[in-house]
Amino acid sequence: MARIVGGIATSHVPAIGRAIAKNLQQEPYWKPWFDGFQPVRRWLAEVRPDVAVVLYNDHGLNFFLDKMPTFAVGAAAEYRNADEGWGIPTLPPFAGHPALSWHLIEQLVGDAFDITSCQEMLVDHAFTLPLALLWPTAEGPCPVKTVPVCINTVQFPLPSARRCWDLGQAIGRAVQAWPGDERVVVLGTGGLSHQLDGPRAGFMNPAFDRQFMASLIDDPTWATQYTVPQLVELAGTQGVELLMWLAMRGALHGGVRQVHANYHIPISNTAAGLLALAPA
Ligand code: DHB
Ligand code: FE
Repeated sequence: MARIVGGIATSHVPAIGRAIAKNLQQEPYWKPWFDGFQPVRRWLAEVRPDVAVVLYNDHGLNFFLDKMPTFAVGAAAEYRNADEGWGIPTLPPFAGHPALSWHLIEQLVGDAFDITSCQEMLVDHAFTLPLALLWPTAEGPCPVKTVPVCINTVQFPLPSARRCWDLGQAIGRAVQAWPGDERVVVLGTGGLSHQLDGPRAGFMNPAFDRQFMASLIDDPTWATQYTVPQLVELAGTQGVELLMWLAMRGALHGGVRQVHANYHIPISNTAAGLLALAPA
């Protein structure tokens, strides 16, 4: 039976890709962010996941505004990255796990989640950068197989916080029902508070972010009290990407302990967070 060995949530700001490409990890601007990954990487070396189920939002690379699934799951043998126009290098393809993907899709549809299944899927910075932070490409190909799960947080209407929590719970059940013996880590990428456009561009809300991060440890449905417009108000238009953190936590079921947390302002215009959780 497959086992979820932990969950990790992280921001996915494109500028991270530029910092990696230019080797800026030790620069004062970047060091507090990159240093946060060292304890998480040591922990990953201990728990040795075989597969990463990556909950993220596509920003217009694979899905554009003309066709926008609420929930999409990749079922490809590999996932390619492509130029998104941020000026960051594309990364080598990531290995998929089609059998586990199809199992997830079947289980989720059986659980009343109307999934768009994608046998071809380009993956953007929200997928590639968190993987590159956890398993740097300079050290070789990404060693884990991947299952991309894309949640629309880009074009309204967005799924509610409750729905994203429920999706995470269903992903957790699906992984546990997989007969293989894979060790699975669940990633949730995006956030924390940020707003890239409009009169509130640059908006961040550290008090809310910190309360949200703390809630994921011992009051994980706390954020489901908020509607999507309330989350936009509290965390910013793009801060609503915190829905991926919530879905990740939902997949873990039961109690968790914090492996490591980091919170740093700003990266680009973003309050950047990292949280690694292990089953209690
Ligand atoms: C930025 C943040 C994001 O989450 C994103 O997807 C794109 C850009 C930013 O802060 O620049
Ligand atoms: Fe984003």
